[in-house]
Amino acid sequence: MSAATATARRRYRSPVLLLLCFFASAPIHGQPDVLGFISIDCGIAEGSSYTDGSTRGLKYVSDAGFVDAGAGANAGVRPPYSQQAQPARYLNVRYFPGPAAGARSCYTLRELSPGAKYLVRCGFYYGNYDKLRTLPAFDLYLGVDRWATVNVTTPDERYILEAVVVSPASFLQVCLVNIGLGTPFISWLDLRPLGAAMYPEATLKQSLLLLNLRRPGAKYALNRYHFWRPATSYGVFRYPSDPYDRVWQSYGDVAAWTNITTTAAVNVSNASSFDEPSVVLQSAATPVNATRLDFSWTLDSSLSPNNGNSSSTAYVLLMYFAELQQLPSAALRQFSILINGASWNSSRRSYAPKYLSAEIVKMVLVQGSGDRAVVSLVATPEATLPPILNALEIYSVRQMTQLKTDNVDAEAMMTIRTTYALKKNWIGDPCAPKDFAWHGLNCSYPSSGSAQIKALNLASNVLTGAIDPSFGHLKSLQHLDLSTNTLSGPIPDFLAQMPSLTFLDLSNNKLSGSVPAALLQKHQNGSLILRIGNNTNICDNGASTCDPDKKEKNRTLVTAISVTIPVATLLFVATILILRRRRNKQDTWMANNGRLSGPRERYNLFENGQFSYKELKLITANFREEIGRGGFGAVFLGHLENERTVAVKICSKTSSEGDKEFLAEAQHLGRVHHRNLVSLIGYCKDKKHLGLVYEYMHGGDLEDCLRGNVVSPN
Ligand SMILES: *[C@@H]1O[C@H](CO)[C@@H](O)[C@H](O)[C@H]1NC(C)=O
Ligand SMILES: *[C@@H]1O[C@H](CO)[C@@H](O)[C@H](O)[C@H]1NC(C)=O
Ligand SMILES: *[C@@H]1O[C@H](CO)[C@@H](O)[C@H](O)[C@H]1NC(C)=O
Ligand SMILES: *[C@@H]1O[C@H](CO)[C@@H](O)[C@H](O)[C@H]1NC(C)=O
Ligand SMILES: *[C@@H]1O[C@H](CO)[C@@H](O)[C@H](O)[C@H]1NC(C)=O
Ligand SMILES: *[C@@H]1O[C@H](CO)[C@@H](O)[C@H](O)[C@H]1NC(C)=O
Ligand SMILES: *[C@@H]1O[C@H](CO)[C@@H](O)[C@H](O)[C@H]1NC(C)=O
Ligand SMILES: *[C@@H]1O[C@H](CO)[C@@H](O)[C@H](O)[C@H]1NC(C)=O
Ligand SMILES: *[C@@H]1O[C@H](CO)[C@@H](O)[C@H](O)[C@H]1NC(C)=O
Ligand SMILES: *[C@@H]1O[C@H](CO)[C@@H](O)[C@H](O)[C@H]1NC(C)=O
Repeated sequence: MSAATATARRRYRSPVLLLLCFFASAPIHGQPDVLGFISIDCGIAEGSSYTDGSTRGLKYVSDAGFVDAGAGANAGVRPPYSQQAQPARYLNVRYFPGPAAGARSCYTLRELSPGAKYLVRCGFYYGNYDKLRTLPAFDLYLGVDRWATVNVTTPDERYILEAVVVSPASFLQVCLVNIGLGTPFISWLDLRPLGAAMYPEATLKQSLLLLNLRRPGAKYALNRYHFWRPATSYGVFRYPSDPYDRVWQSYGDVAAWTNITTTAAVNVSNASSFDEPSVVLQSAATPVNATRLDFSWTLDSSLSPNNGNSSSTAYVLLMYFAELQQLPSAALRQFSILINGASWNSSRRSYAPKYLSAEIVKMVLVQGSGDRAVVSLVATPEATLPPILNALEIYSVRQMTQLKTDNVDAEAMMTIRTTYALKKNWIGDPCAPKDFAWHGLNCSYPSSGSAQIKALNLASNVLTGAIDPSFGHLKSLQHLDLSTNTLSGPIPDFLAQMPSLTFLDLSNNKLSGSVPAALLQKHQNGSLILRIGNNTNICDNGASTCDPDKKEKNRTLVTAISVTIPVATLLFVATILILRRRRNKQDTWMANNGRLSGPRERYNLFENGQFSYKELKLITANFREEIGRGGFGAVFLGHLENERTVAVKICSKTSSEGDKEFLAEAQHLGRVHHRNLVSLIGYCKDKKHLGLVYEYMHGGDLEDCLRGNVVSPN
């Protein structure tokens, strides 16, 4: 059992915490509650939730946040079905209209643990919700792998499907696929965490699908049975009788069988799918007047991987045995297990259940299409008592082999979809199936492994806000087009770290600040095509990609830009200072906003160079080490958070004289071309203080330079 599950399960045992969890707020973005459970009543009003009496207080929430916004519509079941007594989750559905066969609609269950085991269960109750009395059939998928066909043949039958899956990622999708036989709909959807040791046959590569076959005496087509007789209320045990909330239904009355029960706890330390005694195992079926118990099943075509056209299906059968009667020493309950009349395991000829100790006997068998599997528990010749059977589960084994998108890529794409509220037809897995790959994506489909996103075109998609870090997670992405949106904020550094990126179009946005040096470098050495035109607020440190429009309007800048990068930066400072001085003096550090009013001068300088006087004090350890002094002020040694050593030049004069000097110096430096003057990192200006922060180069040259002993450009 995973740690998270263990914690969750420990919690529910405490009544106080149990109470707490019922009042815990409803999950709104597809994540589990405190038990790790997700319980969704599809089709109720967005944001609503309720405590379900039939499950002793589990909280059911609306499906908003689990299903794509705007997908499908809600409806209630119609009379007379709406008048039948049944749990509330059957009274509403979400349906996904649309004529297109192949159209997918998906629920995304989030905040799961990758590699952890989960039980996924969903329910369908038609109830003439559409007033059309047309019974649909549609397909159900676990991610990109087919789960079952939901074939509604009776309007008031509850169709329930369960699967045991290992989640490959932090999310799991359950999708309804239109197969051209009516509108897909769903009544409810559950997810329950299971223990890691449970159902070891469920792996990343295969899931266990609970056999979906109806037996005459059983209420549901769920092949997980207990043998209480007469059937207890509804004949169903689930949470809290089963802490994993598996649904155990009554096998139903079989005339030839009777029951043995106990009130004593059954030790489950040898039955890995239980971790505490359960009422489920406290009853057992036994023949009335015979020495054998037989049960059987046929291949369930609704679960076959390709609609019944499958040569064979593997099944996992789990039988739970525990002796419930204290037997006198002369008595012997012993039996062998036969499959289709043949001894199943010749090396273990017989079973003798232990008193109040449960054991699972597990079988994997492969059945051909249409074949019938008959399991017989037959008393051995020495036995004095007939066989017993306490509980039973039958699963069909499904390979989860469909190629899907790389988990990291898929998560990044889902975040991008959510962040920008994209209303594209982006449903289910981004790359798979190939025919339903998300628009705007190009994927690579290797023969093994997972699909990867190679190209992403989101040009003209009304994206607003910052460039989301999720883009940086697309490690195979070569081509990224975000042009012609209203993206704002800085051009993030992570774009330069994307290992495969060779084309990046950010033009026609509202991005601001400087272009990260690493990105420019990639651009300059030819490894990246970079487009950043028509971003009114970008200052690109002198690369030729600056807004041409602006250059025309400000010829001094054009001249400056032709000089080297650091000099250009200094000139920007000077220019802006001059422009600022022409306006009324502003009190804040200029770099706080780095921009001036008026459309022409909207520059955003020094993304990382926004210093307050306080910060300068911190950087220089309260101006501890003076390393030089110039006409305009003292120069101090400082250290930035990233350990970078800087020189901080300070002028504490408040007079306009001081201001003038400062500007003169800035302008002077702006004309300087000095090999050691690498770059101006930041800038600070308020009512009382002026400061410049430079990258510090060891040696006297810089100090000389800052004193005014500068080398002139030519
Ligand atoms: C649904 O069930 C009916 C009746 O058993 C059958 O005739 C029909 O072919 C099934 N449809 C699908 C899609 O499996
Ligand atoms: C077993 O089932 C019968 C009904 O079939 C019931 O009358 C009887 O009380 C049950 N026995 C025990 C021991 O629970
Ligand atoms: C179950 O049996 C094991 C020995 O196999 C024992 O260690 C454990 O304490 C028992 N549990 C209970 C609840 O009696
Ligand atoms: C039990 O089975 C035997 C043999 O089939 C039969 O003769 C006998 O009448 C049965 N007894 C009852 C109580 O059904
Ligand atoms: C079933 O599968 C076989 C081979 O696996 C194929 O030849 C046949 O056409 C399929 N039939 C249908 C109805 O899909
Ligand atoms: C047969 O029984 C033996 C002994 O219990 C066990 O080790 C083995 O795994 C069983 N074989 C199969 C196929 O289950
Ligand atoms: C569990 O199985 C082991 C090995 O077969 C056995 O020694 C132990 O007693 C069993 N525990 C219980 C509670 O039956
Ligand atoms: C995606 O692939 C198609 C077909 O090869 C091509 O036409 C399109 O330009 C590609 N899109 C991107 C963004 O690379
Ligand atoms: C271009 O510059 C980037 C960033 O410094 C570097 O990683 C890459 O290897 C360079 N490519 C070429 C072809 O020089
Ligand atoms: C910049 O915007 C203008 C006006 O909207 C447009 O005509 C031009 O094509 C754009 N340039 C680029 C590089 O997108």
